[in-house]
Order: sequence, then structure tokens, then C-alpha cells
Amino acid sequence: MNEHQTALVDAARQARARAYAPYSKFLVGAAVLDDQGRIHAGCNVENAAYPQGWCAEASALAAMVMAGGRRVVAVAVCAEAPEPVTPCGGCRQKLREFAAGDCPVWVADLQGLRGSYTMAELLPHGFGPQHLQA
Ligand code: THU
Repeated sequence: MNEHQTALVDAARQARARAYAPYSKFLVGAAVLDDQGRIHAGCNVENAAYPQGWCAEASALAAMVMAGGRRVVAVAVCAEAPEPVTPCGGCRQKLREFAAGDCPVWVADLQGLRGSYTMAELLPHGFGPQHLQA
């Protein structure tokens, strides 16, 4: 792993430890690197009214926006599962708002990196802000 990957995956792993997932017990952490070199992390936050919970990626993006960030240049997700955990469909759309097609999405578990994708691979032909430009 290169320096950016290591830092981002570490941040996602640390965020996973903060996950509030008493219902699914499926802990997820995510981290986004913004175009100013800053890392913003978040975890999933579940709710007794199950559909009201949200994903780690959404928390990380909210942290970035709150810090004034607008461009995501890399993403890391950390979870423990038999297969590498890629962002859910809704989160692919949320990430796409701030990330270009060539933005890397690194997926990891507690042992390390499990996979590397681009946003365009995860959300091909996605709807984005450009579609709303007249
Ligand atoms: N989850 C995430 O936080 N990110 C993903 O990419 C996949 C799923 C969360 C949502 C829910 O709290 C738990 O994992 C089980 O689906």
C-alpha cells in the first residue's frame, strides 16, 4: 500500500471501531481524502427504526462537507466480511456527487487491503451533477 492508501485505510479502520450497529452487528468505517489532502472519516449509525440508519460512507461525506470539502479524490471502506465490502448502491450515488470516475475506492478488512476499484467501475453511466447543467 502507498502512503495515501495506508493513511486512508487506517482512518476507515479506526472509524469502524466507532460504528453504532447494535442491530446488524455489521461494523463499517469509511474515509474520504479531499482535494486539500484532508481525511474525513465516518461510521455506520443504525436506528431502532431500522430504515433510519445510515452508512459509514454517508457519515464520512457529511464530515467532509462540514469541513468545507467539496471534492473526493480517494475513498476507503473497512468492514469484516467473507467478501470485500464495496459501498452499497445508495452510497455509490452519494460518493459520485463529489468524486470523478477515476477516483479510487479501496476496500479493506482488519487484515488490510482487499480490493481496489474506481468510481466508474462501481457506478458506470451514473447520474451526476453534470446532468443538471443546462
Ligand atoms: N453499511 C455501510 O455502512 N456501508 C456499506 O457500504 C454497506 C453497508 C452498513 C449499513 C448497515 O448499518 C450495516 O452496514 C448492514 O447493512
